[in-house]
Amino acid sequence: MEKKRAQWGSKIGFILAAAGSAVGLGNIWKFPGKAFEGGGGAFLLMYLLIVPLIGMPAMLSELAIGRASGSNVVDAFPRLGHKGFAWIGWVGWIVAFIITCYYAHVGGWVLRYVFSYALEPRSVYADPLGYFYNMLGYNAAADAGFFPWPVLIFAFLFMAICAVVIIKGVEGGIEKFNKVGMPALFIILLILFARAATLPGAGEGLRYMLSLDWSKVTPQTFLIALSQAFYSLSLGMSIMVTYGSYLSEKEDIAKNSFLICTMDTLVAVIAGFIIVPAVFATLGPDGVGKGGGFAFVSLAGVFENMPGGAFFGLLFYLLLLFAALTSAVSLIEGIVAFLIERKGWGRTPTTIVTCAVMFLVGCLYTCSQAAYPLKGIWFDFANGVTYPALCDAMEFLTDRVMIPLCALGCCVFVGWVWKPETAVTEVERCGTRFRLARAYGFLIKYIAPVSILVILGVSLFTGTTLS
Ligand code: PHE
Repeated sequence: MEKKRAQWGSKIGFILAAAGSAVGLGNIWKFPGKAFEGGGGAFLLMYLLIVPLIGMPAMLSELAIGRASGSNVVDAFPRLGHKGFAWIGWVGWIVAFIITCYYAHVGGWVLRYVFSYALEPRSVYADPLGYFYNMLGYNAAADAGFFPWPVLIFAFLFMAICAVVIIKGVEGGIEKFNKVGMPALFIILLILFARAATLPGAGEGLRYMLSLDWSKVTPQTFLIALSQAFYSLSLGMSIMVTYGSYLSEKEDIAKNSFLICTMDTLVAVIAGFIIVPAVFATLGPDGVGKGGGFAFVSLAGVFENMPGGAFFGLLFYLLLLFAALTSAVSLIEGIVAFLIERKGWGRTPTTIVTCAVMFLVGCLYTCSQAAYPLKGIWFDFANGVTYPALCDAMEFLTDRVMIPLCALGCCVFVGWVWKPETAVTEVERCGTRFRLARAYGFLIKYIAPVSILVILGVSLFTGTTLS
């Protein structure tokens, strides 16, 4: 006999939890760096077209699959009567597993910075790059790696917080946690925005973010924007299917998809309007880098040069921490829900064991950053077989191959097999007519799958940075 399935306790609870999943490290440190490199306003414009045309239909489809099947991601496709598509769920499940391994560790780094800014901002300011490397286990003076146990403890703490939330369940844990975390995140974001916009010299950065500098835009830029949108909206990863499965019939999936995508994009854009102007004002245009170094290194320079910097630095890393926690929780829920339902295991032991395993695998990720030369293996047609650092290999595999593959699977499944009309019927179970049904059908059948195929193709054939 099946147990009664968990459900969200309230409408706003679900929206905040789904937005909490979407708003994560991707919005706050990946997006601004990419927007800067992709020509500021030009990238922004592209991104703002991609979200409604590709992201939103994909989000709606994943939520509809989740609610219609009422199931975890692996069993969702067979439950809808299509056993042959179970692989999509497996890909999504495995991606969530691999991402959590490293996401929780990056979350641990953020937690480490929260502590530094709260207790000892000087130690970061003195040498931001040295501090960052040292945290990850590299001693520049001795040019040697060492076991970075302090940061691993922070990663462990981060994972433990997530585990506690998951153990408390969908309504009692995830929903409650997001109801506090998400409003806090919005408030911090607005305070930081006010601070950044009023810095002397911020105008130049603001202008850059509003100008259409097409000279920096290449076909690659479009692909970077597209993969960023999928990552940022938590698509192609089992999460929205799982969260959709806890939705009641009364909920309007179309409206919710719109709200989640809008909130996620708003946070990314505001983060861009905070970080790019702040970096321009304090470090000049050359201060903007990308990736981990950007959030953890360039910004330390920004906060040092800003009046009240230690306070705003602390706020910024708290913001990043909330964002990372709510996203990590969603990833773990997707993983745990499957094990609980398929194997009939208890929620608490399943959460503890999976989190422990993911934490341990993640240690290899953190250790391969600087402490030890651990390698992964990679293949693309441009470079053949290569052995990148393990941490890069993990990110490539998820961002460049598996997420697009799972997202493509979902779009093709809904567009061509399950049929957009069935998804529309699912949407309309709430009693409201879905007015954009025809446009949705067209986007999910043609525009979304073709664009994703292009991302996949370019990843495999060119081997250039797309993460
Ligand atoms: N979407 C989140 C972000 O922007 C992260 C995330 C990735 C969440 C993958 C779940 C799954 O960072």
